[in-house]
Amino acid sequence: MAKIRVLVHGAAGRMGQEVVRAVLSEPDMALAGGVDIKKTVLTAPDGTVLPFSTDLAGAIKDYSPDVMVDFTNAKASVPAVRLAAKAGVNLVIGTTGFTQDELGEIRKLAEENRIGVVVAANFALGAVLMIHLARIAAKFMDHAEIIELHHDRKLDAPSGTSLTTARAMLEARGKPFLPPAAGEHTISRGQAVEGISIHSVRLPGLMAHQEVIFGAAGQTLSIRHDTITRECYMPGVVLAIRTVVKQQGFIYGLDRLLGL
Ligand SMILES: NC(=O)c1ccc[n+]([C@@H]2O[C@H](COP(=O)([O-])OP(=O)(O)OC[C@H]3O[C@@H](n4cnc5c(N)ncnc54)[C@H](O)[C@@H]3O)[C@@H](O)[C@H]2O)c1
Repeated sequence: MAKIRVLVHGAAGRMGQEVVRAVLSEPDMALAGGVDIKKTVLTAPDGTVLPFSTDLAGAIKDYSPDVMVDFTNAKASVPAVRLAAKAGVNLVIGTTGFTQDELGEIRKLAEENRIGVVVAANFALGAVLMIHLARIAAKFMDHAEIIELHHDRKLDAPSGTSLTTARAMLEARGKPFLPPAAGEHTISRGQAVEGISIHSVRLPGLMAHQEVIFGAAGQTLSIRHDTITRECYMPGVVLAIRTVVKQQGFIYGLDRLLGL
């Protein structure tokens, strides 16, 4: 069977480099090439220099990818996704920071161009399970806050994962969480999303961490996920690549791919 040809958009970045390594280690995948505005040299483990370009349109034409994996930033991703979708390239999008309108446009591009698209704000299995468990607890505990902690080069805040978590918790609960007994404060208490305060910490030394803390009379429940290395995202990305080549349409979230 022909290998799935994968183009990595943002190939010089932290996540992009990890995706390049993951694709090269999968027997049913081939790296069609990498694209980034920052020039880099991509090499295979045996030292072979791999195709790289700073021009996405040219790369799509020359490298004939089946799938484009995008880990850039929302501003760069939207035009790239338009270009790839219109060329019939399936998409796996891990970039965060999209507006609801942008996500709506990506869904429409998937349908109009009859391609497979997976967008996931977090490809780590543990993070997806954290959200799943938070949905269960949300039905039983009346108070909740989220602390998300990331490295200091992250551009968006609150993180895509914390926003997804807050929305999932409210959806599962079906009614708002209760505010603190002292009432809403005028001092900064993070950003309120769906009535849940999200606190964003940005420090060097951190990678990606999140704690969902539930409170009730006389007890708290904490659900925490810590990313130790970026390798944790790769099984999710690889699963998404295999899915988009055989399934048309728009899928939002790794939980949908895992059947949670
Ligand atoms: N979904 C997930 O599981 C997950 C996990 C980690 C990070 N992320 C997200 O992935 C994105 C990338 O994260 P990162 O840590 O790799 O960032 P990074 O800054 O290390 O990499 C981004 C890369 O995109 C490139 N880029 C920027 N503008 C571009 C353009 N116009 N055209 C082509 N390339 C361009 C940059 O040069 C850089 O190499 C962020 O949005 C981050 O929040 C998602």
